[in-house]
Amino acid sequence: MVVGKPLLTVEQISKRVSELAGMISADYEGKDLLAIGILKGAFVFFSDLVRYIQTPLSIDFLIASSYLNDESTGEVRIHYDIREEIAGKNVLLVEDIVDTGITLNYLRERILRQGPESLRICTFLDKKERRKVDVPLDYVGFEIPDEFVVGYGLDYDNKFRNLPYISAFRKRT
Ligand code: IMP
Ligand code: MG
Repeated sequence: MVVGKPLLTVEQISKRVSELAGMISADYEGKDLLAIGILKGAFVFFSDLVRYIQTPLSIDFLIASSYLNDESTGEVRIHYDIREEIAGKNVLLVEDIVDTGITLNYLRERILRQGPESLRICTFLDKKERRKVDVPLDYVGFEIPDEFVVGYGLDYDNKFRNLPYISAFRKRT
């Protein structure tokens, strides 16, 4: 298994995360925000992002999976659910990467059924070429080509999440 040079460096990431947080802070000025991190992948991005957001916020998490190694199963399972009340809140869903869009589309519709005041989506990475289901993305860190990447929370087989940068990943055959 090969983890190559950074595709996105620590410096590029932290600059972009603070830019995203700036946009979010401006858009939610005077409003309360409920930021929901989609685990496990978003745990690093989420914790960096919320530390740069200036508006008051509450946090919650959910654990969802639609992936088995690097193959999408196309089916979303919730292993741990949101505990905060959604109705009437300004919800910001925070994801690590949007690939086919199946996970986010499922989660988005599920949250919308609970009657939030508003719902926006922030993703660190967007692999646009791979989209199967159209999901509206409000804040995107970086668009990346169709390559499997690891680091900054993203994994292969639950490994490499602790790399501080994003790297392309190839299986050696
Ligand atoms: P989607 O439902 O196909 O959009 O898949 C989204 C989920 O797949 C993400 O939250 C990741 O957990 C995982 N995923 C998609 N692409 C990658 C990748 O390149 N590296 C690591 N995980 C990925
Ligand atoms: Mg994920």
